[in-house]
Amino acid sequence: MASELGSMSVKLSQMDINGDWKISAPNLQKNLAILSPDQIELAKMLLETGQSNLFEHWPEPGVDDEKKRNFFDQVTRLNASYPGGLASYIQTARELLADSKAGKNPFDGFTPSVPSGENLTFGDGNFVKFEEAGIREVRNAAFVLVAGGLGERLGYNGIKLALPSVSTTGTCFLQHYIESILALQDASCRLVQGKYQTQIPFVIMTSDDTHARTLELLESNAYFGMKPTQVKLLKQEKVACLNDNDAKLAVDPYNKYRIQTKPHGHGDVHSLLYSSGLLNLWHDAGLKWVLFFQDTNGLLFKAIPAALGVSSTKQYQVNSLAVPRKAKEAIGGITKLTHADGRTMVINVEYNQLDPLLRATGYGDGDVNCETGYSPFPGNINQLILELGPYIKELTKTGGAIKEFVNPKYKDSSKTSFKSSTRLECMMQDYPKTLLPSARVGFTAMDAWLAYAPVKNNPEDAAKVPKGNPYHSATSGEMAIYRANSLILRKAGVQIDDPVLQVFNGQEVEVWPRITWEPKWAVTFSEMRRKVGGNCSISQKSTMIIKGRHVFLEDLSLDGALVINSVEDAEVKVGGSVQNKGWILEHVDHKDTSVPEEVRTRGFRINKVEQLEMNYSEPGKFCFNP
Ligand code: UTP
Repeated sequence: MASELGSMSVKLSQMDINGDWKISAPNLQKNLAILSPDQIELAKMLLETGQSNLFEHWPEPGVDDEKKRNFFDQVTRLNASYPGGLASYIQTARELLADSKAGKNPFDGFTPSVPSGENLTFGDGNFVKFEEAGIREVRNAAFVLVAGGLGERLGYNGIKLALPSVSTTGTCFLQHYIESILALQDASCRLVQGKYQTQIPFVIMTSDDTHARTLELLESNAYFGMKPTQVKLLKQEKVACLNDNDAKLAVDPYNKYRIQTKPHGHGDVHSLLYSSGLLNLWHDAGLKWVLFFQDTNGLLFKAIPAALGVSSTKQYQVNSLAVPRKAKEAIGGITKLTHADGRTMVINVEYNQLDPLLRATGYGDGDVNCETGYSPFPGNINQLILELGPYIKELTKTGGAIKEFVNPKYKDSSKTSFKSSTRLECMMQDYPKTLLPSARVGFTAMDAWLAYAPVKNNPEDAAKVPKGNPYHSATSGEMAIYRANSLILRKAGVQIDDPVLQVFNGQEVEVWPRITWEPKWAVTFSEMRRKVGGNCSISQKSTMIIKGRHVFLEDLSLDGALVINSVEDAEVKVGGSVQNKGWILEHVDHKDTSVPEEVRTRGFRINKVEQLEMNYSEPGKFCFNP
């Protein structure tokens, strides 16, 4: 059989290959007999795209033949996972590398302006109206979490999804996300259908760096209560590295029979969703929305109902969640770009491109704050809501390909060689770049305290962040959750003490009472208001954890730690005065390796000195009022 295949491939090679092959890739030519016809086709494509260097070191047939065939297995994968295949990748790379060498500005000819969108204020009538509209729609949505990133800046040894979002409960980000989706699912179905029916699909995009550990986290925790069939993992592939301006593919320095690869960026999510066939399945099932989010933003779900309400009310095909942005802050600005030839698009412009773009187009001061004290361009937090129908139509046109960029680090100003290999990259938020000007693209802006507190930076780097800018560390991410929960309860009428300032891991943060609740306790502000009544107060040193749906706080005065656990069919009213020594935050040095990484990365641990814990494990109505 093997020799039959061999002789077939030799015949094919003789028919297909012109004489130049012998000259340009003599080592490959000698090895043709060991390759299958499909592999020979791929070899041909590689030679035609100028990649003969990949075979320079190939020895005579009979040496490393298996490895040579494995090389083509990798080429097959790289070819299949890129829209248009490797030839298209190399072609695009050449064009982008030429533009980069020439210093071409991607926004040449475009004038920036502030796009239209919805600016929301937490808790006012408008916000509540959009939240209710969002809850109605959520049963028609699918959620997509991009979690293939390496998290190099954070430097955590595990996957970011496994990191506790708060240390009071130890709930990891993935658990929090799943519980939030399930809570939204219940709330939406109860509101619209009166009973639980719909299962909201949840997709997680992983990569070779995160896939196995994400699956393991789900399986070892019974999918955190979600039906395993509701969850789908899609793994993104890396892309080929490029050695020079001519887009020569790089040989892996550790294995000469492999092409070196690096991550392509979160923009892959669009082509993966498209090729998975899921979008059409969702469409056929009547779904209308796809919500994209990232791995470590513990606040996001507080903003989701209102933002989805904006999408549905304003019929946005693309809705980017945004927060007020300080001029020059290191987050992109959502910007409308109008070209001299009439083209327009609403997209994210990276912060380092916004200032030069503004200066080049008549705004002499560049990226500056306006009278509000913020940049007029809303800050992009990379959480997108897309309308499914138009999304499918667009991806059918593009095959899911997203406009890419290349960022080579040149050795010198001649820009002829790179310090190390580079590759094409793409970003999820660049999806609107190919849309027609008639597409309805907008944004929903909310206060950062409500919507955005990612965990991206390690303690050392976070401590170096200029004063006034967000740390985006595990410390600030956790404190932001307590702050948001305190502010939300305050708005609902609970008297909450002001925070104190404390320094952990070199970062000064506001420390509010450590209040957390399971998402099902209250997914909207209206629901929260129904759950607190009378005169409630919580002191700064307090910790409160609510686990359960039907828990009502009435005339509660808390100064200490209170933990309430109640089963689904228990209705619990909690009031009166609760006082104890509580849970104390103790400093931990981030360099102290005797402390678990999850703890030392945030610079504190919780010493559970004393608490009142109430457990309601039976159905029924209960009242606690000491
Ligand atoms: P980040 O900007 O946080 O990047 O990605 P990162 O790669 O995780 O971290 P650094 O830059 O190495 O420090 C934003 C989101 O996009 C996902 C991340 O998992 C995160 O949720 N992502 C990033 C992908 O899914 N794939 C990628 O190739 C890159």
